Amino acid sequence: MKILIINASVRSERSYSRKLTQLFVENWKTKCPSDIFTYRETGIDSIPNIDEGWIAGAFKKTPDRTEENRKALQLSDELIKELKEHDVYVIGVPMYNWSIPSGLKAYIDQIMRINETWKFRSGVPDGDYVGLLENKKAFILSTRGDTGYGENEKNGHVNFQTTYLKHILGIMGITDTTIFSLDNEEFGGEIFENSKNEIFNAIHSIA
Ligand SMILES: Cc1cc2nc3c(=O)[nH]c(=O)nc-3n(C[C@H](O)[C@H](O)[C@H](O)COP(=O)(O)O)c2cc1C
Repeated sequence: MKILIINASVRSERSYSRKLTQLFVENWKTKCPSDIFTYRETGIDSIPNIDEGWIAGAFKKTPDRTEENRKALQLSDELIKELKEHDVYVIGVPMYNWSIPSGLKAYIDQIMRINETWKFRSGVPDGDYVGLLENKKAFILSTRGDTGYGENEKNGHVNFQTTYLKHILGIMGITDTTIFSLDNEEFGGEIFENSKNEIFNAIHSIA
């Protein structure tokens, strides 16, 4: 198995989402020592935003692309190749302003490519998306300052983080998604310690 770890926090040592992905890797390694891990950074090293050249190239058929189009899509091509080559995606993602960090959004814009990671079923815009990444599994390891972001909980209606990621993964065909959320970071103290213990144990018990 090849595991792709995608980190999104702009913090390094103090980041809890990075701690979660690290814990995930340590646990996985004890169970599957010969698996391969690749790291994709979207928080500290910035992923460039897509631009006009990118859009001009992405919506053309491959043979119609100019040299300029091909250049604009080069990073996107590399990132999509990386996704296709891996079996499991582990996304360490903080909630920033009820959503995801902008670096991860830039990454998503680079990988959401028509006829590469998704297509319209009929071949023309029909609102019927077909994901092209098959047989993949995703883990979303989220961190948040507050809590109550689950469905039907007090902040559920403003959770544009895990719900958004789940939707994006689904469009690309990744429907086998498991979410772990470490909440309460802003409160600290016992309440945060309890949340940490709960999530750390849950990650440890992944088979
Ligand atoms: C810029 C910024 C915006 C944040 N926005 C929210 C938010 O909308 N809701 C929330 O619950 N926590 C929010 N937080 C708290 C973070 O989600 C929390 O600190 C988390 O642990 C950060 O991830 P990290 O530890 O991996 O860096 C925000 C933190 C920062 C720095």
